[in-house]
Amino acid sequence: MRIGVFDSGIGGEAVATELRKLIKKAEVIAVNDHEHVPYGSRQPDEIISLTKNAIQPLISIDCDAIVIACNTATTVAISSLRKSYPNVNFIGIEPMIKPASQITKTNCIAVCATPGTLKSKQYRHLKNLWTKNIYVIEPDCSKWAELIESGELNKIDVESVVDTLIMENVDVIVLGCTHFHWLKKRIIQSAGSKIKVLEPSDAIASRTKSLIY
Ligand code: DGL
Repeated sequence: MRIGVFDSGIGGEAVATELRKLIKKAEVIAVNDHEHVPYGSRQPDEIISLTKNAIQPLISIDCDAIVIACNTATTVAISSLRKSYPNVNFIGIEPMIKPASQITKTNCIAVCATPGTLKSKQYRHLKNLWTKNIYVIEPDCSKWAELIESGELNKIDVESVVDTLIMENVDVIVLGCTHFHWLKKRIIQSAGSKIKVLEPSDAIASRTKSLIY
């Protein structure tokens, strides 16, 4: 059993770790595109061609499934990947807007994601579908992925972003970029127990397991 994992950078490692924990028998191979990260500020065509290029090592080793552990590449490129490689089992990651819309009590949620994800058709579609009567705040996280990639997490002022969200009465924060999983503990600490912080690594690991067994 072989599972490929792709992200533009170190976001994929957070997801690969969850997959290794849950699917012990599988060989999990993670690749990234360190040379071109971040993807989040690039144009859709570029994201599509970079993603296709970067997953070639996974395509060539015949994976049972390839997890696109990148919200930006999923929302922008996954339909094109499925068209180009109809025999590959792709599993994508998208911002957890649906679960957030189902658990919010204040009808106010926040989505932390890259500009590429926020501008994508797929993200807008998800928003139209699930957040008709919900106020969605999209804080400016445009520099976060780059800082996380270069190990400068401490330069990110998570606390003041979360404070603003608290003042807006947000009760669910969606981590819509796998790089931000590395900030999850800090976000939870600043947000306190009344705010839920959602990210999909567990769900993706279970879905991958059910698909390949
Ligand atoms: N980790 C990626 C995501 O989930 C994006 C980071 C980037 O390359 O901008 O969206």
